[in-house]
Amino acid sequence: MARKKFIAGNWKMNTTIEEARSLAKSLVDLAGKIADVDIAVCPPYTNLAAVGEILKGSTIHLGAQDVHWEAKGAYTGKVSTAMLKSVCVEYVIVGHSEQRSYFNETDETVNKKVKATLAAGLLPIICVGETLDERKKGLLHAVVERQVKGAYSGISEADALKTTIAYEPVWAIGTGEVATPTQANEAHIFIRSIVEAIYSKQVAEAVRIQYGGSMKPDNAKDLLALSDVDGGLIGGAALKAPDFLGIIKPA
Ligand code: PGA
Repeated sequence: MARKKFIAGNWKMNTTIEEARSLAKSLVDLAGKIADVDIAVCPPYTNLAAVGEILKGSTIHLGAQDVHWEAKGAYTGKVSTAMLKSVCVEYVIVGHSEQRSYFNETDETVNKKVKATLAAGLLPIICVGETLDERKKGLLHAVVERQVKGAYSGISEADALKTTIAYEPVWAIGTGEVATPTQANEAHIFIRSIVEAIYSKQVAEAVRIQYGGSMKPDNAKDLLALSDVDGGLIGGAALKAPDFLGIIKPA
């Protein structure tokens, strides 16, 4: 089954409003008409509305980097699904390794966020991936299986079809260290087998699995050519429009 490639940019804690506007404008100029690849950018909360305005009329979608699962109330510092929808967000990154390692994200909170996101009609990009220590100890499969099963707990088959998974080996994020094509594809095939075990072959074949971790224009082609790599979640290289385009092109 042919899965449409999906390239998403995770801007992390980068860009002032002026920088965000300028990056978004360059992206619209360079990639705003591309329709054979799904493209999304995920700026910080403060820049979502402004970037959303600039993306209007282009083929580039707007995503957020996180969300809180509660609908509203006394949760200082948090943002709800309704707030994201009010600024035209469509995708939400959930369970990024930086959230897991610095901000106490657990499989349980990931699951709550996935549920809230889907209930609101938003599309989650669910991040999973092992640390270097876990890989060295031979725990890759156990860790990723636990994360995938945790994220999809209580999610219906119809909702699972709306999700994207991002496999991001933690040791490859922002380090310049990239998983080899063999390592990446092996992990993606494994993740797909977990999705099949939870749901069905049909769901496993339909769900897109992005690779993330130091994907750049010079390694994107090899990674995106792999049977089970359906796109990328891009950090550093998403902050320069030509670099981001250099990853979209091979996709
Ligand atoms: P990177 O980040 O491309 O800078 O390695 C990827 C990510 O964390 O989503």
